[in-house]
Amino acid sequence: MRIIDLAPENLDDFCLCLEEWSDEMKEAGDHKRRWVEKHGERGLRVKLAVDDCGPAAGTVGGMIQYLPIEHSPASGEGLYFILCVWVHGYREGRGNFQKKGMGRALLQAAEDDARALGAKGMAAWGVALPFWMRASWFKKHGYRQADRSGIRALLWKPFRAEARAPAWIRPKKKPRAESGKVVVTGLLNGWCPAMSLVHERARRAAAELGEGVEFREVRTDDRAVFLEWGIGDAVFVDGREIRSGPPPKYEKIKKKISRRLKKL
Ligand SMILES: CC(C)(COP(=O)(O)OP(=O)(O)OC[C@H]1O[C@@H](n2cnc3c(N)ncnc32)[C@H](O)[C@@H]1OP(=O)(O)O)[C@@H](O)C(=O)NCCC(=O)NCCS
Repeated sequence: MRIIDLAPENLDDFCLCLEEWSDEMKEAGDHKRRWVEKHGERGLRVKLAVDDCGPAAGTVGGMIQYLPIEHSPASGEGLYFILCVWVHGYREGRGNFQKKGMGRALLQAAEDDARALGAKGMAAWGVALPFWMRASWFKKHGYRQADRSGIRALLWKPFRAEARAPAWIRPKKKPRAESGKVVVTGLLNGWCPAMSLVHERARRAAAELGEGVEFREVRTDDRAVFLEWGIGDAVFVDGREIRSGPPPKYEKIKKKISRRLKKL
């Protein structure tokens, strides 16, 4: 296996989280591509793991993306922040590449790169439960917890003595209910297709329910907007957030909005 930098020929697959086989991913629209364009200028780094032997030789099996923490959902100084590490684990499409050493190699390559760029350390987020991007996986690789918000753990690994621990930027604001209509507010950063697809489903459901429902998009890839809200990605129906672990189905989102509409 070898680690390469993101190249133009891999951009489409990267923007679909290597899940070009998934119809769900296509629902996410082009937010990721636009985010990549914008964040290239903000220091985004992407590495891919390519299988080098056997029938899948030449296939990209994993990816890691990280950027200066100053453009991440956490506060900190001189650190890089891992937004996502993903080794394709489904049988569909390119197949399962997990547990072959790609994850470890991607993390090592990202840390080496960040050190070479002069970073004081690396930060990452993980879920403090045994699913999704696990905090325990980072801990096994020498990371320790710096902060926690609900089930989201903020982890870090200092490279130098002067490095300071990062902290989560916490929610500061949420939408208020307004009289005479249901307001669906979609906060969108664009980095995560799973979150973008929830946003697009909410937009579609709001439009389908017609008059009485207004969809408002809040672009949190604008740093000032993100700092005002303290939230990167979320969908609110009036003041209530639609919680999304695994992306909620379109029907579920539509039902929540329509229930609210009936109460007007
Ligand atoms: C966490 C994750 C990145 C790890 O990647 P990975 O490539 O599977 O990890 P590795 O192969 O480096 O290591 C995993 C295990 O495989 C083992 N392994 C590594 N190479 C191996 C090999 N050649 N043969 C057998 N086992 C091997 C490792 O020892 C390790 O075992 P351990 O966990 O008991 O220590 C990956 O599983 C993943 O993407 N999970 C989902 C994460 C996620 O949800 N991301 C967010 C998406 S938005």
